[in-house]
Amino acid sequence: MCGIVGYIGKNPAVPVLLDGLRRLEYRGYDSAGVATITDGAIETRKRTGRIANLAALLKDSPLAGETGISHTRWATHGGVTDENAHPHLDESGRLAICHNGVIENYATLRDQLTREGHIFTGQTDTEVLAHLIGKHYDALKTPHGKARLVEALREALRGVVGTYGIVLMHADVPDAIVGARRGSPLVLGVGKGENFFASDVSAIVAHTREAVYLKDFDIAVIGRDEFEISSLLGGASGFEVTKVEFSAEDVSKGDYPHYMLKEIFEQPETIRDAMRGRLSREEATAKLGGLGMTPGELRDIDRIIITGCGTAAHAAMCGEYIIEALAHVPVEVEFASEFRYRQLPLPKNTLVFCVSQSGETADTLAALREAKRKGLRALGICNNVASTVARESDGGVYMHAGPEIGVAATKSFTSQVTILTLIALLLGRIRHLRTTEGLQIINELEALPDKVRAILKQDDHIKAIAQKYAKATAMMFLGRQFNYPAALEGALKMKEISYIHASGHPSAELKHGIIALITPEVPTIVIAPEDSVLEKNISNIEEVRARKGPIIAIGTEGCTKLQRVADDFIGIPHCPDYLSPILTAIPLQLLAYHTAVALGCDVDKPRNLAKSVTVE
Ligand code: M6R
Repeated sequence: MCGIVGYIGKNPAVPVLLDGLRRLEYRGYDSAGVATITDGAIETRKRTGRIANLAALLKDSPLAGETGISHTRWATHGGVTDENAHPHLDESGRLAICHNGVIENYATLRDQLTREGHIFTGQTDTEVLAHLIGKHYDALKTPHGKARLVEALREALRGVVGTYGIVLMHADVPDAIVGARRGSPLVLGVGKGENFFASDVSAIVAHTREAVYLKDFDIAVIGRDEFEISSLLGGASGFEVTKVEFSAEDVSKGDYPHYMLKEIFEQPETIRDAMRGRLSREEATAKLGGLGMTPGELRDIDRIIITGCGTAAHAAMCGEYIIEALAHVPVEVEFASEFRYRQLPLPKNTLVFCVSQSGETADTLAALREAKRKGLRALGICNNVASTVARESDGGVYMHAGPEIGVAATKSFTSQVTILTLIALLLGRIRHLRTTEGLQIINELEALPDKVRAILKQDDHIKAIAQKYAKATAMMFLGRQFNYPAALEGALKMKEISYIHASGHPSAELKHGIIALITPEVPTIVIAPEDSVLEKNISNIEEVRARKGPIIAIGTEGCTKLQRVADDFIGIPHCPDYLSPILTAIPLQLLAYHTAVALGCDVDKPRNLAKSVTVE
């Protein structure tokens, strides 16, 4: 989604802003722009396309100034044009603003401002916001300086319906940048002789690791040497300066050609980190203090709802199978976008888990709030510890997977499934699992990182398979039971980065329609480890083979039965069925990655996609 970076300090603003925007590139965008205050005026440069286009423009037409704001835009209101790119100016051309979020009543505000004589150059809701704030600023006689800017913002936002993370500056007030948020993240970076704003801390972590994560309705003013935070509703607002958990190193690609590949290869460690300190051999269970629930409260849970979007929803579906198998608690998975509007019967002892890597996905956040509004306990499973889901949930479990930059979620999926397995173990032990069974699950969990490492060693083999089928017109992904969600996830990975149409299905659904699509040009990827449904999967494979469809099988190493019916085979180490989606995910990710590379696709920044979807 859109990205914001603001800088005020002693250095030229543009290099800092461009560097920050580049670090936010992974979030997805279609245009970029900067504005600085120079010689008592505001100047902007904006370009559609990559940040490189903006950098080229700035080379031809440089911008001076030590105070500046910048933005990467992912179009919502108005087409992808230079005019619609941010920053936007007000009617006077002396106030500039960058905005993430959506102003829902922008059309009414625009009509009103047009009647008052305002002229708009583009079609965005943000330009309307710029004009509205500028109008209030011009109308105010007192106070002066930054206080006047803050007051104008406060008055303008009173008439605004929608969500925003905003930074703005005024040519009259060159010693300040003002930021505010409601529903869209904004972080204040505290430096020495310089301060920053960013929509995501990774944009500024190269400059400072001291950050204040602003809350909804916070309004912050930064100068070179100071900052102030108050509430948009009036009065002071409490805040905390926190140390950012990761460094600029952590958000670099290292020696890998793409973030996605780096993150795939990090999984032995990230899976270990998801379990670290959370397994008790003594009690043969998982220790999840962050849930904030007593064994008695956990024992009283009659039903669980797990919600999320995209890959997180697929991890949730794996969790459904795992919790039902290990803990015998009924689980329902619902896409967050559906949950928020559905009239789902929600009995009293229902526990809700919201799964989100970023913790900022708008639909997941809305689902969390809806669950809480209905009086349910809503817990988060997220990676970003400073996220809104983390802050607003009643407790939860952090993934500790480190920053995930590749738009295609990889390590977050395996961490989420690992954590859902820990939850299943905990609930199971409280209910019916014996000590020996608990210990066996712990042993299997602890063996996972080495098994993942063994699969990663097959990278060249998987790459060769990917290259063989890269010209396919479409791909089918089939799996049963625990690996049905893995099939959905495999298909999502393939289509989002290689643009090959792919769909995932329960293997047995083949005969109910999908088989009509099978041709020699459409390979089927069947996920069939040695489990209770292996024979059934093999029957489904035979049905595909009878229609001359090529088969790529992912199964347990040494499984000759499966190898015999497959054109290509990828082996995974033996594991219990409930853990198999963590292992089968790895070859599926590598298959998608190498297919996309073979097709020359932009793996880390697939077209039309954003890393975290912060609008509905
Ligand atoms: O940050 P979240 O986990 O809430 O994101 C949810 C989805 O937007 C995300 O998983 C998306 O589907 C990925 N691009 C999939 O690779």
